[in-house]
Amino acid sequence: MYTPLHLKYRPQQLSQIVGQEHIVRTLNNAILLKKTAPAYVFTGPKGTGKTSTARILAKSLNCQSTEEPTTEPCGECNSCQTISHSSSLDVTELDAASHSGVDNIREIVSNLQLKPIEGKYKILIIDECHALSHQSWQALLKTLEQPPVHVVFIFCTTEVHKVPETITSRCQKFDFRRVTLSLVVNYLEKVAHQEGININPLALTAVAKANKGHLRDSLKLLDQLTLLGEEEITPNWVWELSGIIPEYDLVTFFENITLREITGNLGILQDWIECGKHPITVHTSLVSFLKDLLVCKTNPDGRNITQLEEETWNSLTTISKSWSVNHIHSAIALLMARQNLMRDENAHLWMEATIIEIVQTTKSSSQTQPWKDWKTAQDAINWAKEQLPHLSQTQLQEHWQKLTPINGKKALVWVEVIQKLQQTQLQQA
Ligand SMILES: Nc1ncnc2c1ncn2[C@@H]1O[C@H](COP(=O)(O)OP(=O)(O)O)[C@@H](O)[C@H]1O
Ligand SMILES: [Mg+2]
Ligand SMILES: [Zn+2]
Repeated sequence: MYTPLHLKYRPQQLSQIVGQEHIVRTLNNAILLKKTAPAYVFTGPKGTGKTSTARILAKSLNCQSTEEPTTEPCGECNSCQTISHSSSLDVTELDAASHSGVDNIREIVSNLQLKPIEGKYKILIIDECHALSHQSWQALLKTLEQPPVHVVFIFCTTEVHKVPETITSRCQKFDFRRVTLSLVVNYLEKVAHQEGININPLALTAVAKANKGHLRDSLKLLDQLTLLGEEEITPNWVWELSGIIPEYDLVTFFENITLREITGNLGILQDWIECGKHPITVHTSLVSFLKDLLVCKTNPDGRNITQLEEETWNSLTTISKSWSVNHIHSAIALLMARQNLMRDENAHLWMEATIIEIVQTTKSSSQTQPWKDWKTAQDAINWAKEQLPHLSQTQLQEHWQKLTPINGKKALVWVEVIQKLQQTQLQQA
Protein backbone atom coordinates (compact mmCIF):
# COMPACT_ATOMS: atom_id res chain seq x y z
CA MET A 1 0.00 0.00 0.00
CA TYR A 2 1.18 3.52 -0.77
CA THR A 3 2.12 5.62 2.27
CA PRO A 4 1.61 9.36 1.74
CA LEU A 5 4.86 11.32 2.00
CA HIS A 6 3.79 13.29 5.07
CA LEU A 7 3.32 10.04 6.99
CA LYS A 8 6.31 8.27 5.51
CA TYR A 9 8.51 11.20 6.49
CA ARG A 10 7.07 11.83 9.94
CA PRO A 11 10.20 12.56 12.00
CA GLN A 12 11.11 9.72 14.39
CA GLN A 13 13.79 11.45 16.45
CA LEU A 14 14.32 14.99 17.68
CA SER A 15 17.26 15.39 15.31
CA GLN A 16 14.90 14.90 12.36
CA ILE A 17 12.64 17.82 13.30
CA VAL A 18 13.08 20.63 10.79
CA GLY A 19 13.49 24.11 12.32
CA GLN A 20 12.29 24.58 15.93
CA GLU A 21 15.94 24.58 17.06
CA HIS A 22 15.17 26.08 20.47
CA ILE A 23 12.64 23.36 21.23
CA VAL A 24 14.76 20.51 19.96
CA ARG A 25 17.74 21.66 21.99
CA THR A 26 15.79 22.16 25.22
CA LEU A 27 14.06 18.79 24.98
CA ASN A 28 17.30 17.04 24.11
CA ASN A 29 19.00 18.46 27.18
CA ALA A 30 15.99 17.76 29.37
CA ILE A 31 16.05 14.10 28.35
CA LEU A 32 19.81 13.78 28.80
CA LEU A 33 19.78 15.53 32.19
CA LYS A 34 16.60 13.70 33.30
CA LYS A 35 14.89 17.03 33.84
CA THR A 36 11.76 16.61 31.77
CA ALA A 37 8.76 18.56 33.02
CA PRO A 38 5.54 16.89 34.20
CA ALA A 39 3.52 18.96 31.73
CA TYR A 40 4.11 20.66 28.39
CA VAL A 41 2.12 22.93 26.14
CA PHE A 42 3.11 22.79 22.47
CA THR A 43 1.63 25.69 20.63
CA GLY A 44 1.98 27.08 17.10
CA PRO A 45 0.48 26.93 13.60
CA LYS A 46 -0.64 23.60 12.19
CA GLY A 47 1.82 21.41 10.35
CA THR A 48 4.87 22.70 12.22
CA GLY A 49 5.66 19.51 14.16
CA LYS A 50 3.71 19.63 17.44
CA THR A 51 2.15 16.17 17.25
CA SER A 52 5.34 14.68 15.83
CA THR A 53 7.41 16.15 18.67
CA ALA A 54 4.89 14.96 21.28
CA ARG A 55 5.19 11.40 19.97
CA ILE A 56 8.97 11.60 19.78
CA LEU A 57 9.10 12.81 23.39
CA ALA A 58 6.85 9.90 24.40
CA LYS A 59 9.10 7.45 22.58
CA SER A 60 12.22 9.01 24.07
CA LEU A 61 10.83 8.56 27.58
CA ASN A 62 9.50 5.05 27.11
CA CYS A 63 11.83 3.38 24.61
CA GLN A 64 12.64 -0.11 25.86
CA SER A 65 16.04 -0.30 24.17
CA THR A 66 17.65 1.60 27.07
CA GLU A 67 17.24 1.73 30.83
CA GLU A 68 17.07 5.51 30.93
CA PRO A 69 15.12 7.85 28.66
CA THR A 70 17.03 8.38 25.43
CA THR A 71 17.34 11.10 22.81
CA GLU A 72 17.54 8.38 20.18
CA PRO A 73 14.49 6.15 20.57
CA CYS A 74 15.04 2.91 18.65
CA GLY A 75 11.77 2.92 16.70
CA GLU A 76 11.79 -0.89 16.85
CA CYS A 77 10.78 -1.91 20.35
CA ASN A 78 7.20 -2.59 21.28
CA SER A 79 6.85 0.78 22.99
CA CYS A 80 8.17 2.80 20.02
CA GLN A 81 6.06 0.80 17.58
CA THR A 82 2.82 1.08 19.52
CA ILE A 83 3.33 4.83 20.03
CA SER A 84 3.71 5.21 16.25
CA HIS A 85 0.42 3.37 15.76
CA SER A 86 -1.33 5.16 18.63
CA SER A 87 -1.97 1.85 20.38
CA SER A 88 0.46 2.09 23.31
CA LEU A 89 -0.99 1.10 26.69
CA ASP A 90 1.03 3.80 28.45
CA VAL A 91 0.66 6.63 25.98
CA THR A 92 -2.83 7.95 25.40
CA GLU A 93 -3.35 10.26 22.45
CA LEU A 94 -6.60 12.14 22.52
CA ASP A 95 -8.01 14.46 19.91
CA ALA A 96 -9.99 16.98 21.93
CA ALA A 97 -11.79 18.24 18.85
CA SER A 98 -13.60 14.91 18.51
CA HIS A 99 -13.52 13.58 22.12
CA SER A 100 -14.08 16.44 24.47
CA GLY A 101 -16.56 14.60 26.71
CA VAL A 102 -15.78 14.96 30.40
CA ASP A 103 -16.53 11.29 31.21
CA ASN A 104 -13.88 10.22 28.79
CA ILE A 105 -11.35 12.55 30.44
CA ARG A 106 -12.27 11.36 33.94
CA GLU A 107 -11.60 7.79 32.95
CA ILE A 108 -8.26 8.68 31.38
CA VAL A 109 -7.25 10.70 34.44
CA SER A 110 -8.03 7.89 36.85
CA ASN A 111 -6.04 5.55 34.63
CA LEU A 112 -3.04 7.87 34.95
CA GLN A 113 -2.78 7.03 38.66
CA LEU A 114 -1.85 3.43 37.79
CA LYS A 115 1.79 2.45 37.23
CA PRO A 116 2.93 2.30 33.61
CA ILE A 117 2.66 -1.17 32.08
CA GLU A 118 5.61 -1.54 29.75
CA GLY A 119 7.32 1.86 29.68
CA LYS A 120 8.64 4.14 32.36
CA TYR A 121 5.99 6.83 32.07
CA LYS A 122 2.30 7.21 31.52
CA ILE A 123 1.91 9.97 28.96
CA LEU A 124 -1.22 11.82 27.97
CA ILE A 125 -1.07 13.71 24.68
CA ILE A 126 -4.08 15.94 24.05
CA ASP A 127 -4.21 17.32 20.53
CA GLU A 128 -6.29 20.44 19.76
CA CYS A 129 -6.58 20.78 23.54
CA HIS A 130 -8.20 24.22 23.25
CA ALA A 131 -11.39 22.34 22.36
CA LEU A 132 -11.70 20.79 25.83
CA SER A 133 -14.70 21.87 27.88
CA HIS A 134 -14.37 23.74 31.16
CA GLN A 135 -15.39 20.57 33.02
CA SER A 136 -12.76 18.54 31.23
CA TRP A 137 -10.06 21.00 32.29
CA GLN A 138 -11.38 20.80 35.84
CA ALA A 139 -11.09 17.04 35.70
CA LEU A 140 -7.47 17.34 34.58
CA LEU A 141 -6.46 20.11 36.95
CA LYS A 142 -6.13 18.06 40.12
CA THR A 143 -3.71 15.56 38.59
CA LEU A 144 -1.86 18.41 36.93
CA GLU A 145 -1.41 20.14 40.30
CA GLN A 146 0.01 17.01 41.91
CA PRO A 147 1.11 14.72 39.14
CA PRO A 148 2.35 11.23 40.06
CA VAL A 149 6.10 10.98 39.25
CA HIS A 150 5.42 8.70 36.31
CA VAL A 151 2.97 11.06 34.53
CA VAL A 152 3.72 13.46 31.66
CA PHE A 153 1.09 15.67 30.03
CA ILE A 154 1.58 17.08 26.56
CA PHE A 155 -1.05 19.56 25.42
CA CYS A 156 -0.92 20.55 21.75
CA THR A 157 -2.83 23.50 20.42
CA THR A 158 -2.97 26.05 17.63
CA GLU A 159 -4.87 28.43 19.92
CA VAL A 160 -3.08 28.70 23.21
CA HIS A 161 -5.06 31.79 24.23
CA LYS A 162 -8.10 29.54 24.63
CA VAL A 163 -6.32 27.32 27.16
CA PRO A 164 -7.07 28.32 30.78
CA GLU A 165 -4.31 30.20 32.61
CA THR A 166 -4.55 27.71 35.50
CA ILE A 167 -3.38 25.03 33.07
CA THR A 168 -0.69 26.88 31.11
CA SER A 169 0.87 28.25 34.28
CA ARG A 170 1.63 24.67 35.32
CA CYS A 171 3.21 23.69 32.02
CA GLN A 172 6.45 24.29 30.23
CA LYS A 173 5.42 26.11 27.06
CA PHE A 174 7.02 25.67 23.65
CA ASP A 175 6.19 27.93 20.72
CA PHE A 176 6.48 26.13 17.41
CA ARG A 177 7.29 28.54 14.61
CA ARG A 178 6.52 28.39 10.94
CA VAL A 179 9.48 26.75 9.30
CA THR A 180 11.44 29.21 7.13
CA LEU A 181 11.10 28.99 3.39
CA SER A 182 14.69 27.91 2.83
CA LEU A 183 14.45 25.12 5.42
CA VAL A 184 11.25 23.83 3.81
CA VAL A 185 12.89 23.95 0.38
CA ASN A 186 15.95 22.04 1.68
CA TYR A 187 13.73 19.47 3.27
CA LEU A 188 11.58 18.99 0.17
CA GLU A 189 14.76 18.69 -1.89
CA LYS A 190 15.92 15.81 0.29
CA VAL A 191 12.56 14.05 0.14
CA ALA A 192 12.32 14.52 -3.64
CA HIS A 193 15.83 13.14 -4.03
CA GLN A 194 15.13 10.09 -1.87
CA GLU A 195 11.90 9.42 -3.68
CA GLY A 196 13.42 9.96 -7.12
CA ILE A 197 10.98 12.76 -7.92
CA ASN A 198 12.13 14.93 -10.82
CA ILE A 199 11.14 18.43 -9.83
CA ASN A 200 12.57 21.73 -11.00
CA PRO A 201 14.18 23.78 -8.13
CA LEU A 202 11.88 26.71 -8.87
CA ALA A 203 8.91 24.39 -8.57
CA LEU A 204 10.17 23.21 -5.17
CA THR A 205 10.36 26.81 -4.00
CA ALA A 206 6.85 27.37 -5.35
CA VAL A 207 5.59 24.35 -3.35
CA ALA A 208 7.13 25.74 -0.17
CA LYS A 209 5.80 29.22 -0.86
CA ALA A 210 2.31 27.99 -1.63
CA ASN A 211 2.18 26.46 1.84
CA LYS A 212 3.90 29.20 3.86
CA GLY A 213 6.17 27.11 6.07
CA HIS A 214 3.61 24.36 6.51
CA LEU A 215 5.51 21.10 6.11
CA ARG A 216 2.63 18.67 6.01
CA ASP A 217 0.80 20.58 3.29
CA SER A 218 4.04 21.01 1.33
CA LEU A 219 4.58 17.24 1.38
CA LYS A 220 0.95 16.64 0.43
CA LEU A 221 1.30 18.94 -2.56
CA LEU A 222 4.54 17.23 -3.58
CA ASP A 223 2.69 13.92 -3.40
CA GLN A 224 -0.08 15.25 -5.62
CA LEU A 225 2.42 16.61 -8.14
CA THR A 226 4.10 13.21 -8.55
CA LEU A 227 0.78 11.82 -9.73
CA LEU A 228 0.81 14.10 -12.77
CA GLY A 229 3.24 11.74 -14.43
CA GLU A 230 5.25 14.62 -15.86
CA GLU A 231 8.88 14.18 -16.91
CA GLU A 232 9.84 17.15 -14.81
CA ILE A 233 7.56 19.07 -12.48
CA THR A 234 7.62 22.81 -13.25
CA PRO A 235 6.31 25.85 -11.27
CA ASN A 236 3.28 26.08 -13.58
CA TRP A 237 2.00 22.77 -12.30
CA VAL A 238 2.46 23.91 -8.75
CA TRP A 239 0.39 27.03 -9.38
CA GLU A 240 -2.23 24.99 -11.17
CA LEU A 241 -2.62 22.46 -8.36
CA SER A 242 -2.12 24.62 -5.28
CA GLY A 243 -4.73 27.29 -5.97
CA ILE A 244 -2.17 30.06 -5.50
CA ILE A 245 -1.91 32.85 -8.03
CA PRO A 246 1.00 32.61 -10.49
CA GLU A 247 3.57 35.37 -10.30
CA TYR A 248 3.23 36.18 -14.00
CA ASP A 249 -0.51 36.84 -13.50
CA LEU A 250 0.31 39.24 -10.68
CA VAL A 251 2.85 41.01 -12.89
CA THR A 252 0.23 41.58 -15.59
CA PHE A 253 -2.23 42.74 -12.96
CA PHE A 254 0.17 45.36 -11.59
CA GLU A 255 1.23 46.48 -15.04
CA ASN A 256 -2.45 47.07 -15.72
CA ILE A 257 -2.78 49.18 -12.58
CA THR A 258 0.20 51.24 -13.70
CA LEU A 259 -1.45 51.73 -17.08
CA ARG A 260 -4.78 52.57 -15.35
CA GLU A 261 -6.29 49.64 -17.16
CA ILE A 262 -9.37 48.66 -15.15
CA THR A 263 -11.28 46.38 -17.53
CA GLY A 264 -8.23 44.19 -18.08
CA ASN A 265 -7.90 43.64 -14.34
CA LEU A 266 -11.58 42.91 -13.87
CA GLY A 267 -11.16 40.25 -16.56
CA ILE A 268 -8.14 38.77 -14.76
CA LEU A 269 -10.10 38.70 -11.50
CA GLN A 270 -12.94 36.93 -13.29
CA ASP A 271 -10.51 34.28 -14.55
CA TRP A 272 -9.08 33.74 -11.10
CA ILE A 273 -12.52 33.30 -9.56
CA GLU A 274 -13.55 30.92 -12.33
CA CYS A 275 -10.41 28.85 -11.70
CA GLY A 276 -11.57 28.50 -8.11
CA LYS A 277 -9.31 31.05 -6.44
CA HIS A 278 -11.05 32.57 -3.45
CA PRO A 279 -11.14 36.39 -3.00
CA ILE A 280 -9.20 35.86 0.24
CA THR A 281 -6.40 34.25 -1.77
CA VAL A 282 -6.55 37.08 -4.29
CA HIS A 283 -6.43 39.60 -1.47
CA THR A 284 -3.44 37.95 0.22
CA SER A 285 -1.58 37.66 -3.07
CA LEU A 286 -2.12 41.32 -3.90
CA VAL A 287 -0.97 42.50 -0.47
CA SER A 288 2.05 40.25 -0.60
CA PHE A 289 2.94 41.42 -4.09
CA LEU A 290 2.63 45.06 -3.01
CA LYS A 291 4.96 44.30 -0.12
CA ASP A 292 7.43 42.87 -2.66
CA LEU A 293 6.96 45.98 -4.78
CA LEU A 294 7.88 48.08 -1.76
CA VAL A 295 11.01 46.00 -1.20
CA CYS A 296 11.90 46.39 -4.87
CA LYS A 297 11.35 50.15 -4.74
CA THR A 298 13.41 50.70 -1.61
CA ASN A 299 15.99 47.96 -2.02
CA PRO A 300 16.91 47.23 -5.65
CA ASP A 301 19.14 44.31 -4.60
CA GLY A 302 16.50 42.77 -2.38
CA ARG A 303 15.29 39.91 -4.52
CA ASN A 304 16.33 37.28 -1.96
CA ILE A 305 14.13 38.98 0.66
CA THR A 306 11.11 38.48 -1.57
CA GLN A 307 11.90 35.00 -2.89
CA LEU A 308 10.47 36.07 -6.25
CA GLU A 309 11.66 34.50 -9.45
CA GLU A 310 14.22 36.51 -11.37
CA GLU A 311 11.88 37.24 -14.26
CA THR A 312 9.20 38.47 -11.87
CA TRP A 313 11.73 40.61 -10.04
CA ASN A 314 12.85 42.24 -13.28
CA SER A 315 9.27 43.10 -14.21
CA LEU A 316 8.72 44.41 -10.71
CA THR A 317 11.75 46.66 -11.10
CA THR A 318 10.15 48.26 -14.17
CA ILE A 319 6.76 48.57 -12.49
CA SER A 320 8.29 50.12 -9.36
CA LYS A 321 9.52 53.10 -11.38
CA SER A 322 5.95 54.31 -11.86
CA TRP A 323 4.96 53.81 -8.22
CA SER A 324 5.99 56.13 -5.40
CA VAL A 325 6.50 54.68 -1.92
CA ASN A 326 3.47 56.63 -0.69
CA HIS A 327 1.43 55.27 -3.47
CA ILE A 328 2.35 51.66 -2.58
CA HIS A 329 1.52 52.38 1.06
CA SER A 330 -1.90 53.74 0.17
CA ALA A 331 -2.70 50.70 -2.00
CA ILE A 332 -1.74 48.39 0.89
CA ALA A 333 -3.80 50.50 3.32
CA LEU A 334 -6.78 50.33 0.99
CA LEU A 335 -6.56 46.53 0.70
CA MET A 336 -6.12 46.11 4.45
CA ALA A 337 -9.22 48.22 5.06
CA ARG A 338 -11.18 45.84 2.82
CA GLN A 339 -9.80 42.65 4.33
CA ASN A 340 -12.85 41.67 6.38
CA LEU A 341 -15.13 42.05 3.35
CA MET A 342 -13.26 39.19 1.67
CA ARG A 343 -15.09 36.79 3.99
CA ASP A 344 -18.46 38.20 2.98
CA GLU A 345 -20.66 36.14 0.68
CA ASN A 346 -20.34 38.91 -1.94
CA ALA A 347 -16.58 38.94 -1.55
CA HIS A 348 -15.91 38.87 -5.30
CA LEU A 349 -17.98 42.05 -5.77
CA TRP A 350 -16.04 43.79 -3.01
CA MET A 351 -12.85 42.66 -4.68
CA GLU A 352 -14.01 44.16 -7.97
CA ALA A 353 -14.81 47.46 -6.26
CA THR A 354 -11.43 47.41 -4.54
CA ILE A 355 -9.63 46.83 -7.82
CA ILE A 356 -11.29 49.90 -9.30
CA GLU A 357 -10.45 51.90 -6.19
CA ILE A 358 -6.78 50.90 -6.29
CA VAL A 359 -6.47 52.38 -9.76
CA GLN A 360 -8.11 55.58 -8.53
CA THR A 361 -5.85 55.83 -5.49
CA THR A 362 -2.90 55.45 -7.78
CA LYS A 363 -4.20 58.10 -10.10
CA SER A 364 -4.73 60.75 -7.46
CA SER A 365 -1.35 60.25 -5.88
CA SER A 366 0.51 60.33 -9.18
CA GLN A 367 -1.29 63.49 -10.24
CA THR A 368 -0.11 65.53 -7.32
CA GLN A 369 1.15 68.26 -9.62
CA PRO A 370 4.90 67.63 -9.62
CA TRP A 371 5.45 70.98 -11.37
CA LYS A 372 4.53 72.86 -8.22
CA ASP A 373 8.15 72.58 -7.05
CA TRP A 374 9.75 73.41 -10.40
CA LYS A 375 11.48 76.77 -10.78
CA THR A 376 13.65 76.12 -13.81
CA ALA A 377 13.60 73.87 -16.85
CA GLN A 378 16.34 71.82 -15.18
CA ASP A 379 13.97 71.01 -12.26
CA ALA A 380 11.51 69.57 -14.77
CA ILE A 381 14.26 67.55 -16.41
CA ASN A 382 15.50 66.27 -13.04
CA TRP A 383 12.01 65.12 -12.21
CA ALA A 384 11.81 63.35 -15.57
CA LYS A 385 15.14 61.65 -14.89
CA GLU A 386 13.64 60.17 -11.70
CA GLN A 387 10.71 58.79 -13.70
CA LEU A 388 12.82 57.46 -16.55
CA PRO A 389 16.23 56.66 -15.08
CA HIS A 390 17.38 54.86 -18.23
CA LEU A 391 17.29 58.07 -20.30
CA SER A 392 20.30 60.37 -20.14
CA GLN A 393 20.16 64.05 -19.22
CA THR A 394 20.99 64.90 -22.85
CA GLN A 395 18.16 62.77 -24.21
CA LEU A 396 15.74 64.37 -21.78
CA GLN A 397 16.99 67.84 -22.66
CA GLU A 398 16.37 67.08 -26.33
CA HIS A 399 12.80 65.99 -25.52
CA TRP A 400 12.33 69.20 -23.56
CA GLN A 401 13.62 71.35 -26.43
CA LYS A 402 11.19 69.75 -28.87
CA LEU A 403 8.18 70.39 -26.63
CA THR A 404 5.51 72.81 -27.88
CA PRO A 405 4.30 74.96 -24.96
CA ILE A 406 0.59 75.31 -24.22
CA ASN A 407 -0.44 78.79 -23.07
CA GLY A 408 3.24 79.60 -22.97
CA LYS A 409 3.93 76.81 -20.46
CA LYS A 410 5.68 73.49 -20.90
CA ALA A 411 5.22 71.90 -17.47
CA LEU A 412 1.84 70.25 -18.01
CA VAL A 413 2.69 68.84 -21.44
CA TRP A 414 6.01 67.67 -20.06
CA VAL A 415 4.32 65.54 -17.38
CA GLU A 416 2.08 64.02 -20.03
CA VAL A 417 4.96 63.26 -22.38
CA ILE A 418 7.01 61.66 -19.63
CA GLN A 419 4.07 59.57 -18.42
CA LYS A 420 3.43 58.40 -21.98
CA LEU A 421 7.08 57.42 -22.36
CA GLN A 422 6.83 55.52 -19.11
CA GLN A 423 3.80 53.62 -20.34
CA THR A 424 5.41 52.68 -23.65
CA GLN A 425 8.41 51.49 -21.72
CA LEU A 426 6.14 49.34 -19.55
CA GLN A 427 4.33 47.87 -22.53
CA GLN A 428 7.63 46.99 -24.17
CA ALA A 429 8.96 45.36 -21.00
N1 LIG B 1 9.14 20.53 12.10
C1 LIG B 1 8.92 19.48 11.28
N2 LIG B 1 9.95 18.71 10.87
C2 LIG B 1 9.76 17.67 10.03
N3 LIG B 1 8.55 17.32 9.54
C3 LIG B 1 7.49 18.04 9.90
C4 LIG B 1 7.61 19.15 10.80
N4 LIG B 1 6.39 19.70 10.97
C5 LIG B 1 5.56 18.96 10.23
N5 LIG B 1 6.19 17.96 9.59
C6 LIG B 1 5.59 17.02 8.63
O1 LIG B 1 4.18 17.25 8.68
C7 LIG B 1 3.49 16.15 9.22
C8 LIG B 1 2.50 16.64 10.25
O2 LIG B 1 3.17 17.26 11.32
P1 LIG B 1 2.54 17.36 12.77
O3 LIG B 1 3.60 17.06 13.75
O4 LIG B 1 1.29 16.55 12.85
O5 LIG B 1 2.18 18.90 12.83
P2 LIG B 1 1.21 19.67 13.84
O6 LIG B 1 0.86 18.75 14.96
O7 LIG B 1 2.01 20.88 14.28
O8 LIG B 1 0.02 20.07 13.02
C9 LIG B 1 4.56 15.23 9.79
O9 LIG B 1 4.20 13.88 9.58
C10 LIG B 1 5.79 15.58 8.99
O10 LIG B 1 5.83 14.85 7.81
MG1 LIG C 1 -1.12 18.00 15.23
ZN1 LIG D 1 12.27 1.89 21.25
